Amino acid sequence: MKKLIVANLKMNTTPSEFKTYAMTIATKAKGSKNNIVVCPPFTHLAVAKEILTSSKVSYGAQNMSAEEEGSFTGEVSAKMVKDLGAEYVILGHSDVRNKFKETDKLINRKIKTALANGIKVILCVGESLQTRESKQTQNFVRKQLDDDLKGIYENELEGVIIAYEPVWAISTNKTSSSKGITNKDISKMVEVIRKEIEAQFSAKAAKKITVLYGGSVGLNNYKKILSNESIDGALIGAASLDVDAFSVIARENY
Ligand code: PGA
Repeated sequence: MKKLIVANLKMNTTPSEFKTYAMTIATKAKGSKNNIVVCPPFTHLAVAKEILTSSKVSYGAQNMSAEEEGSFTGEVSAKMVKDLGAEYVILGHSDVRNKFKETDKLINRKIKTALANGIKVILCVGESLQTRESKQTQNFVRKQLDDDLKGIYENELEGVIIAYEPVWAISTNKTSSSKGITNKDISKMVEVIRKEIEAQFSAKAAKKITVLYGGSVGLNNYKKILSNESIDGALIGAASLDVDAFSVIARENY
């Protein structure tokens, strides 16, 4: 099964270091059946355009402004990332929700701006440990989807990918271990997400939407996680920093 494999480099690497990274993944991705996307920091997008344009690897930004243009010092607009060839943008990552206090309302506006500018959205949702322990995971994720996708038309949903990223499983290696998330947990949450999309849009939309899993996917567990047929791919943080490790995951036949 063809999967979507996305690298989230977060705030790592310099543009010069990324040049080597991009050249390596462009070469290693040749012949892969999967769709491969790399999301570096904004400052690297021009390098991505230079190196990845004629390759099999697509690229995206890690966030963007909800505003089109104007007096928003320090912000980066959809038009700017689009002009640099970014096909995707990650929105609602737990880093921006928790550390920069982005709200569902803002994320909803950002999604609308991205879609209006023809950029595909990788929308991250997922619960904290506290929410999980109080057995509120399903309600919490349903509400995130409800708030984040408010006012989006069904035909626009083609440009939306959902990444289920339980916050407590990110960069912890608590994946597929006895204490961590299991494939059963992941499949259950994918089902919850599809049911919510069905409730908000339609059964057709629920079936069609791409759902990724993210949270400590790495060389030690990718085969197990990505062989789970309920998920369409993975969003990979820490392990994607090692371009060789990321290439192995991106090239596998699932
Ligand atoms: P991780 O990060 O793979 O390091 O857990 C995933 C993410 O934050 O998108």
